[in-house]
Amino acid sequence: MPVEETLVLVKPDGVARNLTGEILRRIEAKGYQLVDIKLVEADLDLLAAHYEEHQGKPFYEPLVEFMMSGPVVALRIAGNRSIEGFRALAGTTDPTTAAAGTIRGDLGRDWGLRVQQNLVHGSDSPESAARELALWF
Ligand code: TYD
Ligand code: MG
Repeated sequence: MPVEETLVLVKPDGVARNLTGEILRRIEAKGYQLVDIKLVEADLDLLAAHYEEHQGKPFYEPLVEFMMSGPVVALRIAGNRSIEGFRALAGTTDPTTAAAGTIRGDLGRDWGLRVQQNLVHGSDSPESAARELALWF
């Protein structure tokens, strides 16, 4: 089983709601190793690079604006198949329907907030993880 490193971001809603510790607790409980961590006020250049695959989509601009609305916590984590594994821990993109037991399903709110306020980001492939870790760390 490959030990992978992946990028996790606690998004501005997670930081503002004081959920960073709870999210980190779940990551550590799963057995992933925390390799690096920092609080970042992301600028437009960083977010444009991070979300380059979504440029031009209707949700792109509100997403970037949201990601600049407050600090995010960037985590470098390592573990067996941690890229896919963290995404399973996070749950599906829309917190409204994310499964119970997942970060988005348990902690995401469903009272008319936009989909982008879904607490966390996790890299979606080895290529994305390498690219995103180089951007944030
Ligand atoms: P995406 O990479 O598809 O989701 P994930 O974070 O699960 O990998 O999209 C990036 C972020 O963009 C997502 O976390 C929330 C936001 N988003 C929207 O606001 N509306 C949408 O319809 C989609 C697909 C994503
Ligand atoms: Mg994604």
